[in-house]
Amino acid sequence: MTKIAVFASGNGSNLQALMDAISQGRLHATIELVVSDKKGAYALTRAQEAGISTLVINPKEYARKAEYEEVIAGRLGELAVEYLVLAGYMRIIGPTLLERYPKRIMNIHPSLLPLFPGKDGVGQALAAGVSETGVTIHYVDAGVDTGPIIAQETVAIDPGEDRSSLEKKIHAIEHRLYAEVLERVLT
Ligand code: GRF
Repeated sequence: MTKIAVFASGNGSNLQALMDAISQGRLHATIELVVSDKKGAYALTRAQEAGISTLVINPKEYARKAEYEEVIAGRLGELAVEYLVLAGYMRIIGPTLLERYPKRIMNIHPSLLPLFPGKDGVGQALAAGVSETGVTIHYVDAGVDTGPIIAQETVAIDPGEDRSSLEKKIHAIEHRLYAEVLERVLT
């Protein structure tokens, strides 16, 4: 069984979807650790309720990214984690983790990359007035949402559609697609 760590800064609905996929036998992996840079993240509550270990890092307590990534890497090493799965983690991964997990860090982003990278991919698509957007799952490299794309799925934006409706459609895709893709690429 492949050992993964999930990184999340917020609500953690994608974390929940991965936990559900594992318990339903759709994803053959174990979540060894949930890492968050926000101590109040609901993702942490979800992890604790499921009995999954958590690690909270406050980047402000460290002078450099390399220092807190060393702390994370230490814990990942102790747990023999093989892949890092970013699910709403709002920080850029630095060289410390990238070098330790080459082609073993994935991210999910709510747009059809390379369109609308960075923060608020949904809002960017709405502001641009495009008629479709989507979800991208990609390997993480040193850039912001720039790594090699593993999978994409498109969603139509209806005329006059508001943010909450579009977010709902995007989340529905994310919650299914991440587990499907991980089941395919984790070795
Ligand atoms: C998702 O839309 C994901 O694509 C983006 O951040 C959001 C996280 O949502 N990277 P949640 O915390 O999993 O509910």
